[in-house]
Amino acid sequence: MAGVSFQRVSKRFDETAAVDDLTLDVHDGELLVLLGPSGCGKTTALRMVAGLEDPTHGDVSIGGSVVNNVEPKDRDVAMVFQSYALYPHMTIRRNIEFPLRQQRVSAEERTRRSDEAAATLGLTELLERKPGQLSGGQRQRVALARAIVRDPQVFLMDEPLSNLDATLRIQTRADIVALQRRLGTTTLYVTHDQVEAMTMGHRIAVMRDGRLQQVAAPQELYERPATTFVASFLGSPGMNLVPASASGGELRIGDAVVGAASGSSDGPLTLGFRPESAHLDVEGLNAEVVLVEQLGAETHVICKIGDGTKVVVRQGRDAVRPDLGDHVAIVVDANSLHTFDPTSGVRIEPAQ
Ligand SMILES: Nc1ncnc2c1ncn2[C@@H]1O[C@H](COP(=O)(O)OP(=O)(O)OP(=O)(O)O)[C@@H](O)[C@H]1O
Ligand SMILES: [Mg+2]
Repeated sequence: MAGVSFQRVSKRFDETAAVDDLTLDVHDGELLVLLGPSGCGKTTALRMVAGLEDPTHGDVSIGGSVVNNVEPKDRDVAMVFQSYALYPHMTIRRNIEFPLRQQRVSAEERTRRSDEAAATLGLTELLERKPGQLSGGQRQRVALARAIVRDPQVFLMDEPLSNLDATLRIQTRADIVALQRRLGTTTLYVTHDQVEAMTMGHRIAVMRDGRLQQVAAPQELYERPATTFVASFLGSPGMNLVPASASGGELRIGDAVVGAASGSSDGPLTLGFRPESAHLDVEGLNAEVVLVEQLGAETHVICKIGDGTKVVVRQGRDAVRPDLGDHVAIVVDANSLHTFDPTSGVRIEPAQ
């Protein structure tokens, strides 16, 4: 097994910096999720590890050795794509053992290893079928089996679940996590889905416009986002971000005092709080209800505050459910406030 490392890696396509000065270590045996919106450079980063793209600058290493000049086939990585990329005319067995045939592994060993991979992914009964006779979830498991049969140093997975329906996605997500924990193979997993990232990753690296925003364990990322972008990207819905100010040791939204300003110098700032860190009460920040989303166990009340900023408040099952157009008061938990620089969006840490 081996770690993967990006050392100041950039990839330019003409005028676009698809990946911009990325430095990131994926530890040996770790499942690291690359998370970010469409076009932020996730696939490009993955393809540079696979050897399908050459970096414009910087070094990609696997197991401590720079692989920039190593051919894809010699990198000992297995990639799983969003489109399963199975051979339609071959049986499932032939598909799974395909990489072993390329490596000229003996027929006996091919059978043994593909049986084992098929059993791991619950495909034993399907080995003689063709891909066209399988469901989407089964096909995705075949693609995974074809990756694990090689016993590679590194798995690279590019949104492997996005073609599956919601139920199957949750099931397959759990299967991949269990498989990765059991095999202990270093895995770089790409997704734009923050729930997938939170539930699967040992750590998550958040990217935006080719640049790394923050890399941390899921809970750390949720509790201490380094930027407003990370704060709003994680969570469903994301963190509320409201223009605010610090003065005389107090944090204010408009005229309303919402907490103590420890660590922020006087002046404007961006105040962040999670939907679950606020509730509706009789007194507080004045707001008007513009949308009520009932999700069963909880209700999201979307409100407009004085300056027109929208704020989401998560109400529990038993809490009052206001109506559209109601005037309400929002109380924010003073211990759950985050502050960010209003220009750069970078987190301001409270002074110790
Ligand atoms: N072969 C290419 N030629 C030119 N531009 C490219 C090429 N491949 C990617 N790009 C550009 O590089 C940027 C990053 O693309 P990339 O595919 O890595 O994004 P992504 O994060 O994987 O997005 P998605 O979530 O939509 O798959 C985008 O702006 C894209 O248009
Ligand atoms: Mg992509």
